[in-house]
Amino acid sequence: MSRVSIADRDLVDYAVRHGTRPDEVQRSLIDATAERVGDHAMMQIGVDQGAFMSVLAATLRPRFAVEVGTFTGYSALCLARGLAEKGRLLCCDVSEEWTAIALEHWKMAGVDDRIDLVIAPALETLAALPHDPPIDLAFIDADKPGYRRYYEEILSRLAPNGLILVDNTLWSGRVLADSGADDENTSALRAFNDFVADDDRVAVAQLTVGDGVTMIRRR
Ligand SMILES: C[S@@+](CC[C@H](N)C(=O)[O-])C[C@H]1O[C@@H](n2cnc3c(N)ncnc32)[C@H](O)[C@@H]1O
Repeated sequence: MSRVSIADRDLVDYAVRHGTRPDEVQRSLIDATAERVGDHAMMQIGVDQGAFMSVLAATLRPRFAVEVGTFTGYSALCLARGLAEKGRLLCCDVSEEWTAIALEHWKMAGVDDRIDLVIAPALETLAALPHDPPIDLAFIDADKPGYRRYYEEILSRLAPNGLILVDNTLWSGRVLADSGADDENTSALRAFNDFVADDDRVAVAQLTVGDGVTMIRRR
């Protein structure tokens, strides 16, 4: 079951059933998140998006991947499993409590030794990153007003064939001008989407998977 989606519920459930189903560790992570973090559980990416990210990561085989916004670790698990041999995933989050659940499950999945979790505001972590090694794959899924700055920090370190994925960019449809929404998160996402669509440095595909995923590569 997808947690946040812009599509018809029955159709999302159909899509979930027709992609690779979560394995035992992913199932345990979904259950532990639902049991231990209350309503925050809806922040976890859906199963269909997890399948998409898993296929993508395993195809790209990144040597260095970065995640901004890790929560209980589901998307990171999907990325970590696709890393190249000796590849590393840097995970940025501010919550010790939520990422403790991630650490447990990364260990269960046997990927904990490939992941560097940094508990600090992501902008600090990204700004302190060297430009070498370059970033092969990035996933941005933290506070929405921060997206533009995370994007700039990552883009400046992106490998020539690197890819950035940005989550929630359709924001349950609230990004539409006639939705009536004018809160800080919606405004930030509209501004981010407008900026990226006109950014000559990159090529962009706006996907309707999950709550909207933007795929960005350098031109
Ligand atoms: C939507 S959740 C991420 C969901 C995760 N990708 C998954 O698949 O389960 C957003 C996360 O961003 C984190 N976050 C919020 N503001 C942040 C910041 N300034 N720096 C780093 N992480 C932040 C939150 O603690 C939260 O865990």
